Amino acid sequence: MADPIVLCDNLVKIYKVADLEVVALQGLDLEVTPGEVMAIVGASGSGKSTLLNILSGLDVPSAGSCIVDGNDLTRLSQGQRINYRRRIVGQIWQQSGRNLLPELSAQANVELPQMLSGVSSSQRSKRARELLELVGLAGKEQKKPTMLSGGEQQRTAIAVALSNNPKVLLADEPTGELDSVTAGEIFELFRRLNNELGLTIITVTHDATIAAAVDRTIAIRDGRTSTETIRRETTLETLESHMPAASAVIGLSSRTHRESILIDRAGRLQLPKEAIETLPFNGRAEVRIIGDHVELWPILDQVNGNGYGNGTSQNGVSLNGHNGKKEQ
Ligand SMILES: Nc1ncnc2c1ncn2[C@@H]1O[C@H](COP(=O)(O)OP(=O)(O)OP(=O)(O)O)[C@@H](O)[C@H]1O
Ligand SMILES: [Mg+2]
Repeated sequence: MADPIVLCDNLVKIYKVADLEVVALQGLDLEVTPGEVMAIVGASGSGKSTLLNILSGLDVPSAGSCIVDGNDLTRLSQGQRINYRRRIVGQIWQQSGRNLLPELSAQANVELPQMLSGVSSSQRSKRARELLELVGLAGKEQKKPTMLSGGEQQRTAIAVALSNNPKVLLADEPTGELDSVTAGEIFELFRRLNNELGLTIITVTHDATIAAAVDRTIAIRDGRTSTETIRRETTLETLESHMPAASAVIGLSSRTHRESILIDRAGRLQLPKEAIETLPFNGRAEVRIIGDHVELWPILDQVNGNGYGNGTSQNGVSLNGHNGKKEQ
């Protein structure tokens, strides 16, 4: 398998606001293969934008490591960071007003990052026209953002992000302000850019139908990756038809997708919310390694060491996907 283009290990980001510390990422691991199209989902405040802003080189991690295309984002000098932001990654912001300069035409918006990178006037003009054609905006080069529809503005933003030919496209809720048909078209465009340019795409989304259109979806909970949903290969479908329903997180069918809990290098994982809500774990569990799987049992009576852990109850969580029921 190819070396990962993104490798984050135990990533921590703490924002300091006056005397308060906000832990936005707390030990997040992420690996992305070159040419992958993946989505990141998670509740508001879970750390999605923080992760994208670190990957884009805008924010610096507080601890842990993050390497993108061989660039160690914890150690870049200011000059290296500017170069990284210009050439390795392209970014589409969550706030759509931040993507384009309103006083410039679509063409001039796409030329601007190239100008900052020292590309000659004739070359950048040619590339801007080519990129606008690639994203489906031929003939609209001279229009300013306010004269373009929401979908056209996001297409222009994609052309701007691609202007310096980056390896990774980072898009934060690129379809958040679009209707579902236009949003679908933007994701078709992502797919085409991935096929034609080999671009790696990491996108944040709230939309389950968009999560269904990508290769892999990672859910972030409380600043950590918690679950991963992968689109099933047809051949795997029959082999794994006994696996449990795919997703309580993004609601994809188990026929087409398979969800798994992520376990980091230190062995940490996040139990699904339903498990915590339905079983009285109260912050601790008894672990049993049973042949090919692991079971977690709530400990009810800590004084006597008895409780669900004594094997008389079926109320544990089984990490082989068999709902705590023992194999006969
Ligand atoms: N610049 C900042 N200064 C202080 N706190 C911040 C900053 N940026 C983010 N945070 C905090 O970090 C946490 C994660 O925020 P983040 O923006 O990454 O969440 P998100 O998953 O993108 O949410 P949303 O879905 O609402 O966009 C939140 O508690 C947020 O308030
Ligand atoms: Mg966000």
